Amino acid sequence: MTRLIYTGGLLTTVASLALAAPSIDDWTQRSIYQVLTDRFARPHNSPDAPCDPTRYCGGTWAGIIDQLDYIQDLGFTAISISPVVENIAETTSAGEAWHGHWPQDLYALNAHFGTAEELRALADELHRREMYLMVEVTLNNMAQAVAEEDASTIDYSRLHPFNEEGYYHPYCNMSDTTTTTSQTCWLADGPVALPDLRTEDARVSTTLQTWIQGLVSNYSVDGLRIAATDHMDPAFLSDFTRAAGVFTLGEVDSVDATTMCQYDEAVSGLLNYAVYKPITLAFAPGGDMPGLVNSLQTVIEKCENYTHLATFAENHDVPRFASIQNDTALAQNALAFTLLTDGIPLVYQSQETHPNTPNSPHWLQPPNPTLATLTKTLNHLRHHALLQDPGYPTNHSETLYLDGSTYITRKGTEGMQIVSAFSNRGDTTATATTTNNNNSSGESISSSSSSSSNYQVNVTRMYHPGTEVMEMLGCERHVSATGGVISVDFVAGAPKVFYPVKYLNGSGLCGF
Ligand SMILES: *[C@@H]1O[C@H](CO)[C@@H](O)[C@H](O)[C@H]1NC(C)=O
Ligand SMILES: *[C@@H]1O[C@H](CO)[C@@H](O)[C@H](O)[C@H]1NC(C)=O
Ligand SMILES: *[C@@H]1O[C@H](CO)[C@@H](O)[C@H](O)[C@H]1NC(C)=O
Ligand SMILES: *[C@@H]1O[C@H](CO)[C@@H](O)[C@H](O)[C@H]1NC(C)=O
Ligand SMILES: *[C@@H]1O[C@H](CO)[C@@H](O)[C@H](O)[C@H]1NC(C)=O
Ligand SMILES: *[C@@H]1O[C@H](CO)[C@@H](O)[C@H](O)[C@H]1NC(C)=O
Ligand SMILES: *[C@@H]1O[C@H](CO)[C@@H](O)[C@H](O)[C@H]1NC(C)=O
Ligand SMILES: *[C@@H]1O[C@H](CO)[C@@H](O)[C@H](O)[C@H]1NC(C)=O
Ligand SMILES: *[C@@H]1O[C@H](CO)[C@@H](O)[C@H](O)[C@H]1NC(C)=O
Repeated sequence: MTRLIYTGGLLTTVASLALAAPSIDDWTQRSIYQVLTDRFARPHNSPDAPCDPTRYCGGTWAGIIDQLDYIQDLGFTAISISPVVENIAETTSAGEAWHGHWPQDLYALNAHFGTAEELRALADELHRREMYLMVEVTLNNMAQAVAEEDASTIDYSRLHPFNEEGYYHPYCNMSDTTTTTSQTCWLADGPVALPDLRTEDARVSTTLQTWIQGLVSNYSVDGLRIAATDHMDPAFLSDFTRAAGVFTLGEVDSVDATTMCQYDEAVSGLLNYAVYKPITLAFAPGGDMPGLVNSLQTVIEKCENYTHLATFAENHDVPRFASIQNDTALAQNALAFTLLTDGIPLVYQSQETHPNTPNSPHWLQPPNPTLATLTKTLNHLRHHALLQDPGYPTNHSETLYLDGSTYITRKGTEGMQIVSAFSNRGDTTATATTTNNNNSSGESISSSSSSSSNYQVNVTRMYHPGTEVMEMLGCERHVSATGGVISVDFVAGAPKVFYPVKYLNGSGLCGF
């Protein structure tokens, strides 16, 4: 007991010394690019030799370093990488541990991804560029290859540091979905048993706290992404977050905001799964744009602080957007929404190339100049707006116009707001989908009623009358008329983004 109290005191002291770690506020100003280390880049731009997607494919930390110019040029200010610790070495009938979610030794690195020096070099290279490193961690369980999901054959002595059966919950099948069961039963991965750690036990909890402090400090980690957050004890997660001393982004895979937001005090921020699904439903021909706006409002009400939520339209656990909608105009809108709505933008590797590859591998695809330019412009615009307007992250998106196919919203302090106009009509003029234009918020004057992807919406109270604004994706100037009206001309269903010319100086955008 005395030892535990002593350890707790030591942890607090170490954490409070780690003043250099970026704060939650710092993270709310970032834009994150997520990569799976094994599938993003082989070192030294080596050619994309074909590879078996169930096996290791050769991506490494050194490979990521080689791509940092590319990522930084797109305007991202942080990267998130897949788990770094040693995983099981076996080739099972479910493949190899290339994803990093089958941990075996928390104190060794996954040699497939490189050496400790290379991981430190990645952190150093990021910091030299004033970018942050986020590392994903699996805390819920360890892993071992077994015959036919038979947990009784596990050799616990091979797991480090949790090398005894007593560190784990007794085997039970996660057949029922109550919270208790999901926190104590074992996640199943077929031929790989995932012994479920008793994170609610002090000795497991303090061991993980000591470990994460070592990992964070040895590799200069700035933030952690926590897999399977809802499978663990919330009290453990908040102690873990405090001990880690860095921003923790929790994964609660639930479309229900109430379920998701239950974990918002246990971790620093959450992946915004409650808005993810509505994004895919909204940016579809005839899709549910009001549903998207409602989902934003719901998380604002249910979660403690919406600025700590990370918005995404793709990740490694969900289908690529292009596999749902092949239309590049819809992809532009989904990406623009991700970058400009409330919260922290999180873009999955290659999303800017519009890959229609639901399965691994996901090497960088041939470039899509339209999406790359949009990503770069809007990341830089958001960054510039943050410098001009410290209130930008905490000011939440306010709807200026909404109907079945169009959502126009402002974010930022009066006078310096970014106004974003999204459309779900796609870029085909031949679409037969009927859209519902009967749901405007009452602030608009009118909108054209056809389902053409070239259309106009006149929006009132966009800016003070007489304000000169720039449409940032086309670099076209407009002046707001009486009533603050600006005509938003959608062309081929692409989004439009406005910003006052007065504040563009120094942005590097549209010739400024
Ligand atoms: C929400 O989080 C932001 C960024 O960390 C912070 O500045 C703001 O004060 C928080 N708002 C509330 C209401 O706690
Ligand atoms: C666990 O439950 C799943 C779903 O009910 C079932 O398919 C699987 O066979 C079970 N595993 C064991 C070892 O009982
Ligand atoms: C961090 O480095 C220290 C000193 O070399 C070492 O004792 C510790 O095990 C390392 N921790 C991790 C998680 O790598
Ligand atoms: C997706 O769009 C591209 C380019 O517009 C086209 O070449 C491709 O065939 C489309 N794929 C599908 C599955 O529709
Ligand atoms: C956002 O800014 C607008 C304009 O300054 C202001 O009216 C609104 O109250 C702000 N909203 C929040 C949540 O800060
Ligand atoms: C608009 O909605 C109202 C009420 O839902 C309905 O009565 C009206 O017919 C609708 N108008 C059009 C043009 O769809
Ligand atoms: C109209 O807007 C309301 C409130 O935003 C929403 O609840 C409703 O689903 C919308 N209806 C349609 C047909 O889009
Ligand atoms: C928008 O306003 C302009 C200028 O008043 C007008 O010419 C145009 O018809 C309006 N567009 C729509 C869709 O109402
Ligand atoms: C824009 O910035 C330049 C220097 O970067 C400065 O000389 C100029 O006066 C600025 N213009 C405005 C309108 O602030």
